[in-house]
Amino acid sequence: MNKQIADGIIYIGADDLALDLFEGQYILPEGMAYNSYLIDSEKIAVMDTADAAVATTWLANLKGALNGRTPDYLVAHHMEPDHAALIAETLKEYPSCTLVTSAAALKMLGQFFPGIDPKVQVVKEGDTLELGAGKTLKFFAAPLVHWPEVMVSFLEPCGILFSADAFGKFGALGKCGFWGDEDDDWACEARRYYFNICGKYGQPVQKLLAKLGGLDVKIIAPLHGPVLRENLAYYLDLYNTWSSYGVETPGVFVAYASMHGGTRDAALKMADILKAHGCPKVAVSDLSRDDMAEAVEDAFRYGKLVVAAPTYDGGLFTPVHNFIHLLQAKGWTKRRVGLIENGSWAPQAGRIMKEMFATMKDVEVVEPLVTVRSRMTEDNLDTMNKLAEAL
Ligand code: FEO
Repeated sequence: MNKQIADGIIYIGADDLALDLFEGQYILPEGMAYNSYLIDSEKIAVMDTADAAVATTWLANLKGALNGRTPDYLVAHHMEPDHAALIAETLKEYPSCTLVTSAAALKMLGQFFPGIDPKVQVVKEGDTLELGAGKTLKFFAAPLVHWPEVMVSFLEPCGILFSADAFGKFGALGKCGFWGDEDDDWACEARRYYFNICGKYGQPVQKLLAKLGGLDVKIIAPLHGPVLRENLAYYLDLYNTWSSYGVETPGVFVAYASMHGGTRDAALKMADILKAHGCPKVAVSDLSRDDMAEAVEDAFRYGKLVVAAPTYDGGLFTPVHNFIHLLQAKGWTKRRVGLIENGSWAPQAGRIMKEMFATMKDVEVVEPLVTVRSRMTEDNLDTMNKLAEAL
């Protein structure tokens, strides 16, 4: 699909509706979009390639937009293969084309494409690329948004920000809409994407947002998900909340896993008790069955978390251990946690969960710990009410 997003700026990306898991781990109920753009000025610049899975479509889109011409530049903002997989093929097809990329990306280029030796123009923060007819591309380093070599670029005077992975989301454009304002619920899959892909890198994202603050951005053209053209403050505000680990939705996320229903019943009862205490929003997830990436997303979304876990093999039940490990890996912070453990003969889950949360910065485990022995008792309900009050 080729589509003009502004005068002389053509979308040449492609949807992949067949992929089951992004990065080998994130489910894709509505596919994935690999965005790519062509700036058609006196000089022609291709803005990133795409994933190998959509090579045929992307190359056809590129040829369609070129209409027999040769690109002058191939700009590679990010060397991850979901955007860079077709660099070698493109440069083989157009050997006079200059690859424009960062020094850090250039180091990775030979790792992905052994023996490649293209014409290269290395760019760094503040460098510009003149494309003629008054169009200038300005580069900004965006290290760790999401890899260390990432750059974004800003096209003047059009006001188009080529934002790499930032402001992207899961989902094919054919499913969620080409423009952000056509997407019924951009934030849902953008949040799951952000926290699982970039959650750890809040500080680098904050640095990038600070750089963007001085630009008159009219369109955000990310490498995934819809092109954003209206109400940009909405997306920028969400990114600011997410990357500063602020609370997006006041409420409590109750995450549990259960072997025989006792821990599940305690978790669901805790959710009812929280609502009865006036909690504005209570979200619940079964970590054994629900999407773990969505559970990670919700842990960041809400201000408070309750985790309910059985003891297993003298340790912590595996789905809960995996969940808390993911929170450690993603740099989960600035939150309060309440704990419910279950153990029929020697409860250990509470102790282990406390130890895991103690490794995280600015995470407070709120007392009392609720200890269930196989099935909930009246004493447990009393302790749960105290925990709800304390949270
Ligand atoms: Fe969409 Fe970090 O690649």
